[in-house]
Parts: sequence; structure tokens; C-alpha cells
Amino acid sequence: MLATSLSLLRSPLRRRTRLLLAFLLAVAIAVPVLGTTATRAAAAAPGPCDIYASGGTPCAAAYSTTRAMFASYNGPLYQIQRDSDHGARNIGLASAGGPVDAAPQDSFCAGTTCTITELYDQTPNANNLPISPGSSCPGCSGSLSGPGPNGSDIGADAMALPVTIGGRHAYGVLFNNIGTGYRNNAAKNVPTGSQPEGIYMLTSSNLVSSSCCFDFGSAETDDSDDGNATMNAIYYGSACWTGGCTGPGPWVGGDLENGMYFSAAGPNPPTIPSETGSFVSAWEKNNGTTNFTLKYGNGQSGGLTQSYSGALPNGYNPMKVQPSIELGTGGDNSPMGTGEFFEGAVTRGFPSDATENAVQANITAAGYADNTTTFPPPTTSVISLKAHANGKYVDAPNSTTSLIADATSVGTNETFTMVANNNGTVNLKAHSDNQWVTAENKGDSPLIANRGGPGPWETFYLLHNPDGSVSLRAYNNQHLVTAESAGASPLIANRTAVGPWEEFDLTPA
Ligand code: AHR
Repeated sequence: MLATSLSLLRSPLRRRTRLLLAFLLAVAIAVPVLGTTATRAAAAAPGPCDIYASGGTPCAAAYSTTRAMFASYNGPLYQIQRDSDHGARNIGLASAGGPVDAAPQDSFCAGTTCTITELYDQTPNANNLPISPGSSCPGCSGSLSGPGPNGSDIGADAMALPVTIGGRHAYGVLFNNIGTGYRNNAAKNVPTGSQPEGIYMLTSSNLVSSSCCFDFGSAETDDSDDGNATMNAIYYGSACWTGGCTGPGPWVGGDLENGMYFSAAGPNPPTIPSETGSFVSAWEKNNGTTNFTLKYGNGQSGGLTQSYSGALPNGYNPMKVQPSIELGTGGDNSPMGTGEFFEGAVTRGFPSDATENAVQANITAAGYADNTTTFPPPTTSVISLKAHANGKYVDAPNSTTSLIADATSVGTNETFTMVANNNGTVNLKAHSDNQWVTAENKGDSPLIANRGGPGPWETFYLLHNPDGSVSLRAYNNQHLVTAESAGASPLIANRTAVGPWEEFDLTPA
């Protein structure tokens, strides 16, 4: 309460003075002074959250796998767990307020795979981000399931995104596998309702998508879509839900729920067809009633470009933000977005442009480089599927009849376009009606080709069996597709082990 009252009294002049002081402090620390070298050498330069605090808009949550967000921070950055013995360990800093010391991760994960299981909040609020509970959180009635236990999400591969920062090696968080997500549904001291809020994250255009939703920021505490204005998160990607966008993207937007907005009307400015770079800083701030502002910058050099500042979309005033912080998914745990994350923070209050410029300068001075991991684009092929259950081809006759293995030859109804994504999943589009095959009712009902685009229900893991056949595992319920009753009944995703009914010959058609 006292802090709130004090922040209301802060004038722009005093904010500018504090920013200047923070800058002078950084310079003073960087210049060795005779006789005090040891003390000075140990002190670190201000981090992004020192700058936000100087500007009167302190960080309410701050995460990074690459560096400290405060000069004084000397705790862990993130937790990893290895597959071999399920042992866990924290990864911390090379020095207080400095960059990560990633060497312990390399030795701990040698010869096995490691998963990032938690990102630690560096603010005193301890708003840590564990793997999202997905549809298993209390009250998550409307949420989308992740591929983890009980519908929870999964963690990122800890070794999958090597980069350097200030010449030291480090790892970012890679959101490539469908259902990778982190969330804190009981965040403390974060903006709620229509309180002003600022957010930034350092991401990359090396891996983006037009699927929903690679987000960082405030979301619903029940992992469910609670209606317009119940989210205030940064979206980064190339989805244009409102239509009318110009260029291929990606763009920085505001995911305000039921829409990722690049302006009040939706579309990006025609003058900015894409916002790209191997490191991209993404910025959103929202005063809760009359303004939201979007910016982007190159994370290695230069300043910020404002892509939008103005009214909130119709139906989003006032904001109704809830105390949850999420990273990597949509507010309802929509799991299909892909992206990269290196650092980011949520602030209390509407940061000034001067503060954001100073944080951008701090990011570029950190020396991010060597983000060279590449991702093959999806491949498309035309295929048919022959069931081992009865030796017949899978038939998708129209958008009202379920898929069934009853055909003795391949024609249009037995032909599918298969999109193979770079994360081991596929989507199938039936040639009979040009609709995508869905595991209807989250897999409770048979497969049917009746969807206009691929989402979670239309996503299947493609498993390769030792005998050369394939099996399909539905993303939503993680169950294997079977040619039910030895092929006499429609295909349905309801099995937990591969037998002959779950095996199909996949052949180019
Ligand atoms: O606003 C876009 C998305 O719509 C949200 O992230 C999600 O909750 C809903 O599906």
C-alpha cells in the first residue's frame, strides 16, 4: 500500500533522475578505481530489473536461463532433470549479477537427455515457473491438455538451444515440441484487473509458427479461456486471427484472450511486414483501460521500434487480468505455438519509453550471439494408409462419415496429404473433402475428416514400428489409433499399446 502510494507520487522528472543514477552507477562500476579494485570488481552492472525499478515500474516476475536480471541476484536460474536417473539440479550464475555458469549442465547431462523443469523468478515474489499443470490444475475445466501426465505440459530439452552471452556458452528455452509450457497459477504481487502492466521477453525468429500460442505474460489462473481481456501476454508469431495482416510475420502482439492483437483492430501496420532476428526483443505494455503499446527490437544492437500504441480492442476495456504467469502456451493451454525464450520480465506499472530504451540497451550490451540452431520446415507428402488389421485401405469418404479401413484399392477417398512437422507430429488432410482429420471429442469419438485447419485434436505423433509399419498416437489423449474390431469399425484413438490393429502401411499415393 505504502509502495503504491509512493509510486503514485513519483514524477517523470524523478524517474529520469533515477534512470540517470542507474546509468552513472553502471559506469562507475565499470571503471576501476585505485585502492577499491577488489570491491568494485565484485560488483555487477545493473540488470533489466534494476532499470525497471529505477523507472518506478519494478519487476513482479523475472526469468532468464542466461543471466541475472538484478545486479544483486546470486540465486539459481533454472532447474534441470536428467532422464538417466531422474536426478535434478539447479543451474546458477558464474558470479553474482553476472551470466550463467552452464558448465555444470554439460557434465550433468552428458550421455543422457535433460529437461528444464522450472524457471526461477529472480524477484523476491518467488513467482517460479514450473511445468504447466495443463488440464490437471484445479478448476481447469476449459483447458487444453498437454502431453504430460494427467494432461500436464512437458518441459523443454535443456540442451536444445545453445547460444553465447558475453562470450560464455548458455542455453535458451526451446518451445518446439507440442505442449511445452510453464505456468504459475498463483502469482504474487503481479498486476491484476485493470492495473497497468509491462512485459518484455528476448526471443528469436529462428523458430516461430502461426499456431496458437507462443506467449509470455499474464493469463488465467484456471488454464482456461475466461473471456476477452482476461489475459495480458506478449504473443510472438505469425498468426493473424483477425485477418488483414500484411507480410509473413512474425510480429509482436498482445494476446488479450480470444485474439492476438497487433493493433486495436487486429492487423499489423502494413509498413512492418515482419519483425525478425536471431535475437528479438518483444515488448507489450497495457494501462488497463485506454492504451496498449507494442514494440520490438534487435536483441544484439540498436533501439526499439514501436509498432502500435493506442486504444485497446473493442470489448477489452477494462482489462480483467488474473494473477497467473505463463510461458510458451495460450491462456487456455493451447499447445501448438513454437518459439525461443532467453529472458523476460513482468512489471508492475506502465513502464516509460525511457525505461524500456534503457532495458533494450542493457540487453544489447549483454552480448547475445551464436543462435545458430536451425529447424527444418514441415514436409508435405501425399499418402495412403493400409491397415494391418484387415489389409484394407483407410477410407475418408466425406465430412460426415468416420474414417474406416474398408477399401481394397486407393482412390481419392483413400488419399491424404500428410504434413510432417519437425517435432515428430503429423496432420492429415483428406482429399475427398479437403478437411483435416480430427480425433473427434478429444479422441472419445472416431476419427473424421471435418476440420478446416490443424489444431491439437488434428495432431498425431507418427511412430515407426520395427516391421516398417507406422502407428498414429493422437496428441490430445495420447492414445493410439486402432482399426477397431479388426477393421470392421471406424478408426478411433483408444489404445495404449501397438498390436496389429494399430499398425498401418504408409505408402506414397
Ligand atoms: O487469444 C488467443 C488464444 O485464444 C488464447 O491464448 C487462448 O486462451 C485462446 O484459445
